Amino acid sequence: MKTALITGITGQDGAYLAKLLLKKGYRVVGLLAHRSTNALWRLSYLNIDTEVEYSDGDLTDLSSLIRIIEKIEPDEVYNLAAQSFVGASWQQPILTSQVTGMGVLHMLEAIRLTNPQIKFYQASSSEMFGLVQQPVQSEETPFYPRSPYGVAKLFGHWMTKNYRESYNMFTCSGILFNHESPLRGLEFVTRKVTNAVARIVVGKQNELRLGNIDAKRDWGYAGDYVEAMWLMLQQPHPDDYVIATGKTASVRDMCKIAFSYAGLNYEDYLVIDPELYRPAEVDILLGNPAKARKKLGWEAKTSFEELIQLMVEADLARMKEK
Ligand code: NAP
Ligand code: GDD
Repeated sequence: MKTALITGITGQDGAYLAKLLLKKGYRVVGLLAHRSTNALWRLSYLNIDTEVEYSDGDLTDLSSLIRIIEKIEPDEVYNLAAQSFVGASWQQPILTSQVTGMGVLHMLEAIRLTNPQIKFYQASSSEMFGLVQQPVQSEETPFYPRSPYGVAKLFGHWMTKNYRESYNMFTCSGILFNHESPLRGLEFVTRKVTNAVARIVVGKQNELRLGNIDAKRDWGYAGDYVEAMWLMLQQPHPDDYVIATGKTASVRDMCKIAFSYAGLNYEDYLVIDPELYRPAEVDILLGNPAKARKKLGWEAKTSFEELIQLMVEADLARMKEK
């Protein structure tokens, strides 16, 4: 039985990846940073909170990572932990750099010092493309990050590559484009919208305040994307891959779909709030997943419309439960 260590186990991707690996027969250990009071709600939602083992530690504390790796002896480490909200990275640029950037180096060092045979997955991001240098972004596209978060991710990305080249370690970087689900945090725009739709339906909210609704993203379903993470670590050689749908849509398009699913018109509720604009914006992202399709046999299964419907349905169901 293989053992996997997942950092960011309490986040959206951590929950879906844990579910996938448990199904594949792995022993799954999650690094638990004990930040929120109900940290395990996503794992409970997927009915796996008691199947996962937990180990206390923090990505900013190298000694905790070394201790955990020595104790649990993982075959694979999936580094999903991060301060992952782009908007907050302007408010907390130093913390973001420490966790999202330096945290990656801590984990790489912990592995190198304990057992450099461990396979390592780094959660890199399309946010690294930022001010896009090519209309469609692939593994060959130059980076131009636009947020402290994007800069920190780029540091982690290059460190992952550097440890592969310097120490011959099996380190992979997944350059994942936006992926969403009913387990998405409420601060991200898709869930903010689908949750608002459900609240409006039951009369708990009468407007939705958003920032730049012309921004476009290549949006996929998190449940599909965690499969690609696992596939990367099963290949004969470590490499970096873009994971995306190959389609892009605006925040406005997403609002239209979400509201119309509940029989509403988004224009009746939307208020543009200049406070929600970012100091520097990523206007458009569109990924080319050709390499992942060819080498990993991976492709996105869930369409954008299906994804948003799934999220609205889940939020409506939650609202009824309350
Ligand atoms: P998420 O829901 O925000 O989860 C982040 C996780 O990191 C949480 O479990 C959080 O724990 C943990 N964490 C934060 N600071 C930590 C620290 N100092 N030490 C240990 N754990 C810490 O993010 P996600 O959407 O699942 O994304 C997973 C990873 O993929 C992130 O690295 C993100 O940047 C990256 N990514 C995401 C997307 C996307 O569209 N979702 C796209 C590209 C890349 P608490 O719950 O205790 O705070
Ligand atoms: N969050 C948020 N809230 N975003 C808004 C709002 C709002 O009220 N109004 C407009 N937006 C716009 C943002 O300006 C951005 O252009 C877009 O909606 C998407 O914002 P987020 O959902 O916060 O995601 P993100 O693209 O900034 O970052 C996500 O994707 C990255 C991959 O590209 C996060 O998951 C990152 O961790 C991930 O790396």
